Amino acid sequence: MRRLPPVLLEDGCSRELLSLIRTILAACKEISFRVGQGALSGVLGSTLDENIQGETQKKLDVLSNQLLKDILLESGTVKAIASEEEDYTVAGNPDAKFIVAFDPLDGSSNTDINSLVGTIFSIMEAPAGSDAADQSIFMQPGHKQVAAGYVLYGPSTMLALTTGKGTRMFTLDKTQGSFLLTQDFAEIPADTNEFAINTSNQRHWQPAMQNYINDLLAGDTGPRAKNFNMRWIAAMVGDVHRVLSRGGLFTYPTDTKDPKKPNKLRLLYEANPMAMLVEQAGGIASTGTERIMDIQPDAIHQRVAVILGSKNEVETCLGYHK
Ligand code: AHG
Ligand code: MN
Ligand code: MN
Ligand code: MN
Repeated sequence: MRRLPPVLLEDGCSRELLSLIRTILAACKEISFRVGQGALSGVLGSTLDENIQGETQKKLDVLSNQLLKDILLESGTVKAIASEEEDYTVAGNPDAKFIVAFDPLDGSSNTDINSLVGTIFSIMEAPAGSDAADQSIFMQPGHKQVAAGYVLYGPSTMLALTTGKGTRMFTLDKTQGSFLLTQDFAEIPADTNEFAINTSNQRHWQPAMQNYINDLLAGDTGPRAKNFNMRWIAAMVGDVHRVLSRGGLFTYPTDTKDPKKPNKLRLLYEANPMAMLVEQAGGIASTGTERIMDIQPDAIHQRVAVILGSKNEVETCLGYHK
């Protein structure tokens, strides 16, 4: 099986970008080990702190963030980083070409139940002549990403990665510490009978999503004339991995549960990298009204509605939003 570096070099990926990706993966291998040790290494449970977004931080959120942050900043491969667990961006090597936004541990409510979690990352170029300490270098739409991916810490540790030449899957061979290519070019089937949404929020959704989901639930005697199956992992990384593996529609729509927080998922380090992976595998990623990767960000922790996955099913859902 082929290792990650030669595969990416054949794609025309620069040595500079490859070196940054390998730096991120070095941190992810360490996170994979810590997650795998679970209770044995005393990393389960919560801290007494909250992140800037008001979420209680799990010990593994803090640990994963620290590992990624330290390794990336020490490597000299990044100009700045933005993280879910950092209030502001952090400046790195002023001469480096790239900036990285990451969700160090996605699905942190799953840590204490030994269920799926992962790391999501998005790589962009810093604007020429920009200041490493300037937060605005991250205010670029997702279509500017040069690479995006996630590492899923599941029964096996897997990497989904795109540098804009399709989405590939690698599996970590823990006996030698290498990511080996296990699926060349994921292709999301255009049609599906599977959807993922947290239905406990149903009464708070907007009418378009209410109507769409009602029609799915009506099954083969309803307007869709088809039975649908539902899955919810409570970690975007797990739900998107299923969509990339066998298709489906995943959504975290706008809701009115908390008027101060109409959307849950964050644009820079959740929605954008997942949108790139999904589009590169033939799927669609939208807010309901616009392509996720065309949004001009105005804040590092900005949140957006997300509807992504199988092309025809996402288009059907978007039809309800017109
Ligand atoms: P994080 O753990 O990084 O804060 O992200 C959690 C997100 C996302 O992974 C998942 O899709 C969603 O929260 C789950 O939300 P519910 O708690 O509403 O199921
Ligand atoms: Mn969180
Ligand atoms: Mn997350
Ligand atoms: Mn997280």
